[in-house]
Amino acid sequence: MDSYRIIAVCLGNICRSPMAEAVLKERIAAAGLDEAVEIQSAGTGHWHVGHHPDPRAVQALARRGYSVDHVARRIRRADIGAADLVLAMDRWNMTDLRELVGDSDDVTRIRLMRSYDRGLAHLPEDDQALDIPDPYYGSDADFGVALDMLEAASAGVVDQVRIGLSR
Ligand code: 4NP
Repeated sequence: MDSYRIIAVCLGNICRSPMAEAVLKERIAAAGLDEAVEIQSAGTGHWHVGHHPDPRAVQALARRGYSVDHVARRIRRADIGAADLVLAMDRWNMTDLRELVGDSDDVTRIRLMRSYDRGLAHLPEDDQALDIPDPYYGSDADFGVALDMLEAASAGVVDQVRIGLSR
């Protein structure tokens, strides 16, 4: 069986997408799918390349029992072609990713993370309510809010992985 590849993408790759990576790794493992699924994260911006996740993200994760081991890197065009699912954290990330792929069919792999939140399934994919707000300039509580949103969307991502692996 080919592995299913997910890449979570935000702006800096030090807050939201490393948290997404940590949560998804835990949920995929809990579903018994970790042998079949590869989960990475990257950023659209270059500022934090080589940095570890923001300490507030690490703490927010640790408070809920997740660990994270990541070094920030910038998304490349080839990452998108190699992925089955590219999870953008907000509409700006989505726009940047779409620009990277141009008019390639690979655009269909790019989805907003929160579009997998079953409670938000009625919203169109460009709805601002699907953004995970950037906590970088916010408080510790904002990191908790981002984590709430990531956790709420994860079950739907696991469902999508099952569909992908069954094809
Ligand atoms: P992230 O948060 O995209 O969730 O990793 C940010 C981190 C850094 C910056 C912006 C967003 N920054 O502008 O440096």
